[in-house]
Amino acid sequence: MNVAIMGYGTIGSGVAEILEQNSQQIRQASGQPVELKYVLDLRDFPDSPVADRVVHDFGIIENDPDVQVVVEAMGGLNPSYPFVKACLLAGKHVVTSNKALVAAYGTELLELARQKQVNFFFEASVGGGIPIIRPLYRCLAGEKLQEITGILNGTTNYILTKMDKEGASFESALKEAQALGYAEQNPEADVEGHDTCRKIAILTAMATGREVDYQEIHTEGITRITDMDFRYADRLGASVKLFGTSRMEGDQVHACVVPVMIGKDHPLYSVSDVYNGILVKGNMLGTSMFYGSGAGKLPTASAVVADIIEAVQNRDRNVALGWSGDRLSIGAMDTMEFRYFVRAAGSCTEGKDLVESHFGPAEYVCLGDAGEFAFLTGKMKEGDFKEKAVAFETAWKDSHPEGILQMIRAEL
Ligand code: HSE
Repeated sequence: MNVAIMGYGTIGSGVAEILEQNSQQIRQASGQPVELKYVLDLRDFPDSPVADRVVHDFGIIENDPDVQVVVEAMGGLNPSYPFVKACLLAGKHVVTSNKALVAAYGTELLELARQKQVNFFFEASVGGGIPIIRPLYRCLAGEKLQEITGILNGTTNYILTKMDKEGASFESALKEAQALGYAEQNPEADVEGHDTCRKIAILTAMATGREVDYQEIHTEGITRITDMDFRYADRLGASVKLFGTSRMEGDQVHACVVPVMIGKDHPLYSVSDVYNGILVKGNMLGTSMFYGSGAGKLPTASAVVADIIEAVQNRDRNVALGWSGDRLSIGAMDTMEFRYFVRAAGSCTEGKDLVESHFGPAEYVCLGDAGEFAFLTGKMKEGDFKEKAVAFETAWKDSHPEGILQMIRAEL
């Protein structure tokens, strides 16, 4: 079997490296040799081990009947979408690490793969090297899934960990993540939560078998999280993580991407640095957790190579996976329930009565030196919290016009 790699960046070069280094293992698992025939890129790589296989014309791959599996590692939607579509139409299996592509065009590409009796695999698109897509459609196939909550972005987890444990600035931690090859070309996709949004959309579609429009998912990033939040979190024995969450109750599905304050007893608390962790709750299984390297060259490429092997093993048939074009409607964010960590101007002594009259019983954190205090509400719907917060600020504004300084959902 011959493979072509489109895009010789971080992931594409990692795939070439693994195909070479682990060729014996891959041959054994596939039942036949797997050769890298072409690498498509705009650039030349004269000093690389693939120098003699670099091509610049996609048509060479599309029209070569000896290429049976194509790896898409270009990222973005253009030209990856037309190229992937053309490969499937040409009867080639496609393996991708591109979550933007899967979230935007997965329904169409999965259907095309079914029609052409080939495969469209995307294990590496969520959780980097962590097996999560295949467990969902294989090992958990008999489960009714109720919740998926994950730290799904290595870059933001790396940044939050550095801010929490080392007091690093947001900017310096982001630069390190970029240097380590974790961040997207435009890191806004990481830090504004868009990458996590596409990943939780893919997992939700896998779990429900229905199409999810990622644009319906309420998405916040980590750019508003400050060192002051970590000072309070520290006092609470907690940390702040960026969660992608999907809660499924019957036909009702809620999903969001938000920073969440969690305590040491939360299973995702110890998921640090570039690691990702994904909790999956099924009606029979209960909760299981998937953990590992969520980004980076070789971990992500490892998942791509596993998909290549799966494609070789199923070269003449389409493996049933994914979702249909039946669109799932995502419930309104206002109906999701959380506890809320709130920082407000003033002091605990001044604010307590007003907090309790608006939000009900709360827990307080007073640092004592900051002209502000923090409280943790009980669990309530987001819409209710917003109404209470407006009323609280209105009552508080004469003496403390700054009002509420921060709100972070909490699972404490
Ligand atoms: N930028 C992504 C991350 C890469 O940091 O998780 C892996 O999808």
